[in-house]
Amino acid sequence: MKYYMAPMEGLTGYIYRNAYQKYFHDIDRYFTPFITNKKLDFKVKKDIDPEHNQGMEVVPQILTNQPDDFISIVNQLKQYGYDEVNLNLGCPSGTVVAKNRGAGFLAVPDELDSFLDKIFNACDCKISIKTRVGKDSPDEWENLLAIYEKYPLSELIVHPRIQKDFYKYTPRMETYQYAAEHSRHSLCFNGDIHSVGAYGRLRQTFPETEKVMLGRGILQDPGLVGELRMVEAQFAAKDTGTPVGNKKCNVVDKQTLRAFHDDICDGYKGVMSGDRNTLFKMKELWCYMSRSFTNPEKYLKKIKKTERLAEYYVIVDTLFREQEWS
Ligand SMILES: Cc1cc2nc3c(=O)[nH]c(=O)nc-3n(C[C@H](O)[C@H](O)[C@H](O)COP(=O)(O)O)c2cc1C
Repeated sequence: MKYYMAPMEGLTGYIYRNAYQKYFHDIDRYFTPFITNKKLDFKVKKDIDPEHNQGMEVVPQILTNQPDDFISIVNQLKQYGYDEVNLNLGCPSGTVVAKNRGAGFLAVPDELDSFLDKIFNACDCKISIKTRVGKDSPDEWENLLAIYEKYPLSELIVHPRIQKDFYKYTPRMETYQYAAEHSRHSLCFNGDIHSVGAYGRLRQTFPETEKVMLGRGILQDPGLVGELRMVEAQFAAKDTGTPVGNKKCNVVDKQTLRAFHDDICDGYKGVMSGDRNTLFKMKELWCYMSRSFTNPEKYLKKIKKTERLAEYYVIVDTLFREQEWS
């Protein structure tokens, strides 16, 4: 099984990736948050700079519906040594979708087909796709998959929700099943693998799964992939077939978690001006990370309110001292 870290705008940039790699180093591939501008800007350059991504396999992600922009971004990325990129066909945000980009591109399949034809003809690097299964209805999936089948994708990452779902409801597993049965591409499953139990259920239903991508599950519990690897290893050792484990076996201790947190916070402090900007990033992360602590509510509330780093550290110290990583 290969484990991928999902691209998450504002969260899984190089500062988070480096800290994660240092303490957990169990991800096979990291995907950068999406790149949209035709000319790589300062922020993107910092994120993809090989100096900032050492020892990691990183795939930059592009979000556009303009073939020329895609090709131009690919050419710039090649100068940094990248030979593979990922196309975002899943972003559900209103502003992105209104311009027929991200999951909005799925609503105009003929244009999407022509876009893919152009980029696959023009680019000599590997191209993978991360997609939702439709914009307004899962009925769109059959046609979309037929389009993807025409091109030599390096892999197809499927987040089986439609744009209208945003991140709500449960993933539409029947659409993933359809892809598993009909696609010639190497598939990667993405969506709601937030626990060992959810992973076990996926593996039980789709024992052929070879790749999974995790986003919020890792942000919430950075030890999750370590646990999933242990589950896989136990089942391989017993040779009992599909893993069905749902018992949480903590592989992270509070000390490691604290060091991980401090690295991320120091990383932001080093590149951002003022407490507020650093705190903005940390607050976003705590919306996920707090969920793995016992009784997180009152600490999260205080973290969200504070505007000074000194005060922030006192709250975090108290949380780590008074609560357990559950
Ligand atoms: C805050 C946030 C930012 C995201 N940014 C991106 C992004 O830049 N590119 C992308 O393809 N998906 C993005 N996603 C979607 C995730 O990559 C992933 O598909 C989604 O969270 C479902 O997987 P999960 O249940 O493992 O989190 C984002 C999701 C969230 C919640």
